[in-house]
Formats: sequence, structure tokens, C-alpha cells
Amino acid sequence: MYEHLRKALFALDPERSHHLTLDAIGAAERLGLMSLFAKEVPDDPVELMGLTLPNPVGLAAGLDKNAQAFNGLGALGFGFVEVGTVTPRPQPGNPQPRLFRIPDAEAIINRMGFNNLGVDYLLERVKRRRYSGVLGINVGKNFDTPVEKAADDYCLCMEKVYAHADYITANVSSPNTKGLRDLQYGDSLDALLAALKQKQKALADEHDRYVPLAVKIAPDMDEEAIKHVAQSLYEHEIDGVIATNTTIDKSLVKGFTHGEEEGGLSGRPLTERSTEVIRQLSAALDGTIPIIGVGGIFDGDSAAEKIRAGATAVQIYSGFIYRGPAIIREAAAAIAELHKGRIADK
Ligand SMILES: Cc1cc2nc3c(=O)[nH]c(=O)nc-3n(C[C@H](O)[C@H](O)[C@H](O)COP(=O)(O)O)c2cc1C
Repeated sequence: MYEHLRKALFALDPERSHHLTLDAIGAAERLGLMSLFAKEVPDDPVELMGLTLPNPVGLAAGLDKNAQAFNGLGALGFGFVEVGTVTPRPQPGNPQPRLFRIPDAEAIINRMGFNNLGVDYLLERVKRRRYSGVLGINVGKNFDTPVEKAADDYCLCMEKVYAHADYITANVSSPNTKGLRDLQYGDSLDALLAALKQKQKALADEHDRYVPLAVKIAPDMDEEAIKHVAQSLYEHEIDGVIATNTTIDKSLVKGFTHGEEEGGLSGRPLTERSTEVIRQLSAALDGTIPIIGVGGIFDGDSAAEKIRAGATAVQIYSGFIYRGPAIIREAAAAIAELHKGRIADK
């Protein structure tokens, strides 16, 4: 069924079809129709950052930036849903067009630039949540906040969403906000993580509830940089790491229409690179901090491969656009098989 729907949606401008789809999912959920689209997803509970996921396949950040459709998205069978990236103040993002499909490569290039309605809007949405599953809230900085003051933006968002999030992600890896990815390196990373951890501790005391904090990283790092990230995450007692965001390496779609657009590349061409980052991160972390694997998951095999590389759970964005809800069940089933095999081996 999704094949037909996809044909219709892909005939439209990508951003328009994105909004139409989110509106339709929102409306279907309010009318109680989501069970018509939901797939039977195998039960495969997994512990992640102290949370119990019904299955380890989540929706990646960026699809529901303003928490407008997460109730419906959650009802499709995802084991967890991440909304955002949200910034302290609303901002329009980059000029359109800024979202490009590359169907022949099953890829997407985007330079959205954190277009969102601001943290106060998102807060009103998540306060009225009907989705009872695990909800992550992904936070970032406004485009006009200087990078030296980035921690203030992250902390402000954390403060606002803390009571309503099951976990919070600090996104330091979008290629579409100038200077953001510099926060992944050296002293900038240490200073940011120290500030975030301090904020988390203060909020945990205030709310008498510990909300885990994850950091989302880019795939465009060499092994040395990955080792440094792992060391910093460990030292600052960060609860989880999401690997990876989109890549700026467009050589992977050279020659395709839109293959040279400015922005971050996601989808099939990212699969191996993100798995390699997970592998290196997993070796460096040695099981101390859980990894959420994301990047180019399109079927059961590519999902299971992320778990084999060292991830505890996975997230999907582009695969969901290209394959529809069926990808959730396929990914979850392949990982459940892997888990069964591991138990049998013991
Ligand atoms: C159009 C689009 C918008 C995105 N926006 C965000 C975002 O706001 N925050 C974020 O952390 N990641 C964002 N991402 C990155 C995805 O969450 C994911 O990390 C990346 O696309 C790789 O996974 P995939 O190959 O399954 O798409 C975005 C991706 C796309 C395609």
C-alpha cells in the first residue's frame, strides 16, 4: 500500500509532502485510525539509558521537529520516538528549497537549518501527550546564538522540557547551523558536556527524577576524533550517544540529480559510514555508554548490522520515508532474531 502512497507523495515538492504526511498522521491519530496503518512489531524489550523500550527501533529526530504528530508516529510501532531539534526561540530555517530527494540512490539531502516553532510551542504539544511510549526530546541552539554561548541555549531547552522528556538529546552534529559541529571537538566539547551535566544534575534534584542525556554526533570524524568524543562522554558521565547525523560527504551521491546540493546527506549512501563510526565508538567506549545507531537503515539486515557493530538500539528517518511503516517491523524482527540467537549461544 505504501508503494502507491509514496508515488503520490514523491510527485509533490518534498517539503509539502512532508507537511501533508505529518498532518495526515496527526489527524488519523486523533480519529483513532492509526491501528489501520500500524504493523505487528515483535515484542523485544531492551534496556536503554535506564529506560525500557518495547522494541529497539526508534524514529530519528528531525521528522517531527515541533512534536506535531508524535502521538500518531508512536502508534505505528516505533519502540521510541525522538522529537525536535527544537531551539529556544522559533526560527524559520534556511530559504526554500532546502530538502531534496535522490530516489535513485534512496537518499535525501537537507539544509533545513533547524526550522522550528521554538521550545515553548513544543512544550505545549508534549504536555498533552497521548503517546505512552518512550519520548526523546532533541535540543539545539538558535542560528544567531554565538557558538561560545551555545551551552546557554542547550541548558535553557533542557530546563523547559525536562519534566516532559523520557530522555534529552543534545544535537551537536547538524551540518546546517554554522559552527555547531565545532562543539564536537577538543575543549569546546568538554566545556559543553560539563555544562550539560551540571544542568542535568541540578534538574534531577529539582524534579526528583533523573532524565538521561544523550549526545548526537556526526559521521564525518576520523578515528582519533571518535576516540576523543568517547573519552569526553565517559568522563562527563553522559548517558548515551546517538551515531550518526547526516554526512557532508557528497562524493557518495556524485552524478545524481541534486547530488551536489549543499546540506547533509542521509539514507542508503550513509549506511556503511555510520556503521563504521558505531564500530569505532563501540571499541572506544567498551560498553560503558550505550550507542543508538542511525544512518541508512533500509531493511532488517542494515538494522541488525548496527546492533552487531555495537549499538543497543537504532533509529530511522530516510528509510521510513522511502519504505514506509513496514521498515519498523522488518528492522525490529531482524534485531529480535539476532537477540534470540545470542541467547541461544549463551
Ligand atoms: C530532512 C531531515 C531533517 C533532519 N533534521 C534533524 C534534526 O532536526 N535533528 C537531528 O538531530 N537530526 C536530524 N536529521 C538527521 C536524522 O535524524 C538522522 O540522524 C539522519 O538522517 C541519518 O539517518 P537516516 O539515514 O535513517 O535518515 C534530519 C534528517 C533529515 C533527512
